[in-house]
Amino acid sequence: MRTQVCIIGGGPSGLLLSQLLHRKGIDTVVLERKTRDYVLSRIRAGILEVGFVDLMRAAGVSERMDRESFAHDGTVIACNDEQFRISFREHTGTDVVVYGQTELTRDLYDAREAADGKVIFNVENVVINEVETDAPYVTFDVHGKQERIDCDFVAGCDGFHGVSRQTIPLSVRREYEKVYPFGWLGILSETPPVHEELIYSCSDRGFALCSMRNANLSRYYIQCSLSDSPDDWSDENFWEELKRRIPSAAAESLVTGPSIEKSIAPLRSFVTEPMRWGRLFLCGDAAHIVPPTGAKGLNTAASDIHYLYHGLLQFYEEKDSEGIDRYSEKALARIWKAERFSWSTTNLLHRYPDMSEFDLKMQLADIAFLRDNEAAQKVFAQNYVGLPY
Ligand code: APR
Ligand code: PHB
Repeated sequence: MRTQVCIIGGGPSGLLLSQLLHRKGIDTVVLERKTRDYVLSRIRAGILEVGFVDLMRAAGVSERMDRESFAHDGTVIACNDEQFRISFREHTGTDVVVYGQTELTRDLYDAREAADGKVIFNVENVVINEVETDAPYVTFDVHGKQERIDCDFVAGCDGFHGVSRQTIPLSVRREYEKVYPFGWLGILSETPPVHEELIYSCSDRGFALCSMRNANLSRYYIQCSLSDSPDDWSDENFWEELKRRIPSAAAESLVTGPSIEKSIAPLRSFVTEPMRWGRLFLCGDAAHIVPPTGAKGLNTAASDIHYLYHGLLQFYEEKDSEGIDRYSEKALARIWKAERFSWSTTNLLHRYPDMSEFDLKMQLADIAFLRDNEAAQKVFAQNYVGLPY
């Protein structure tokens, strides 16, 4: 088999890149370890920056998103029983779009299928070869048989646990990591959201977040111990704890119901440099992870895809390698700013187990400054809606 760009990973990064390149006549093959249904069973955040929305439009995959998504032009920050709103529209002139990652991944799969795009599922033992030459190739097993794909480039969109990052020699790779001493226990419930916008809440009992997927599908999180398991939390215990951590007005109007999904996610900040090695380019979770506090996971994948897509276009259409040569530098410049925002909002709103009284006073002063200072709110809003590509 031969293709121009072999894409490892059929998550949002890999599918979006494949669809964008297809629209420009550039051939790709996507290799996915799991099945389509398994990929679509993952529950992930769905706060989209305008840059991601623009990419979905450029990919020709925005019709359902435009029909079913809704815009948020602000968010609520709460601290114990006090709350204030930060207006994205007032400070940035734009907003964010709420549209579940599962739905946009489904739309991307549908678009690849409609275009007869090549996505190979259930692949095993993927090995990326000869990326330091101009004739890389990928081998993998499927249906018990080894296959080989010769290509011009390999896009490593295979997430944090994929093989792409490991293909870059340890002597070259520099990895930066922070593991947070708590996790997020999240539930999905078929109940109306407690508020029309998100509520990020810091309380003496820990962080909580009230989010949503649509008018009758809510997503809630509470900060939990890393030693917790979802089975430790009955729905009733979850709802009671959530009510203790959000403003009383919200707690009183909260509509509870049975959880249809319950899981715990650890929080981590992670970046690997460089994001390019020869003809291999890392995108999305394969290269970096953010704590979910800033809703940047999907949106940092989007800017990687933006830079790589335009770099590959420049190579194929203008025979100019400037874009791909500068990919890692440009992608990392924006990634580190998103890492900073995600790290700082995590510190702003979470209670660390080892916080001193002074640390607590600093946190409360930080939140009070954000509440009272227009410039601080402008900085928060600019980061939340997405810094320029
Ligand atoms: N071979 C083929 N596919 C693989 C391999 C492999 N060796 N390893 C992993 N994969 C697949 C996974 O099954 C997954 O479907 O690669 C895909 C990677 O998708 P994601 O982990 O969703 O990463 P990405 O596409 O970059 O999307 C980032 O996902 O984790 C969230 O918060 C993150 O919203 C962000 C988004
Ligand atoms: C979600 O809806 O899952 C969500 C929203 C905002 C975040 C994190 C998660 O910051």
